[in-house]
Amino acid sequence: MNALKVDEEVYREVESIILANRDEKTPLLSVLQGISQVYGYLPRDVMEYVSRKLNIPSSKVFGVATFYSFFETRPVGKYMIRICQNAPCHVLGASNILRILKKELNIKEGETTKDGKFTLEVTSCLGVCGVAPAMMINETTYGNLNEERIREVLALYQ
Ligand code: FES
Repeated sequence: MNALKVDEEVYREVESIILANRDEKTPLLSVLQGISQVYGYLPRDVMEYVSRKLNIPSSKVFGVATFYSFFETRPVGKYMIRICQNAPCHVLGASNILRILKKELNIKEGETTKDGKFTLEVTSCLGVCGVAPAMMINETTYGNLNEERIREVLALYQ
């Protein structure tokens, strides 16, 4: 996915997200979530803008944005695939699942497909160890993965 051109329209949208969350005691997380939902990631210029508007040091804004794995600070694909590599998933074949995903998508970890559709990342526990090995695509979790299941799931996003 290409980097967002941060222009006046983007700042107006961000301003409306900030206003929608202004009554929260600590609005930063909600504001970053709102921006992330609209644009798919948190552009640096937008984080600087949020810092000024909320009167929060930019180091804190960047700190929050980079602490949580569900925030991206670079352009990513329309669909973010996060494959768990923690012990329960690893024991049940997560490395093989990752290999299959790389082959199916023709990308490496951290890369986005040429059409901008999928980004592939490894992650820690998704909280669904009972159905390991598991992955998430955006907000949806898929478990009990094997080669056939991966192809079925990817077909849902074609
Ligand atoms: Fe993979 Fe928990 S270890 S979901």
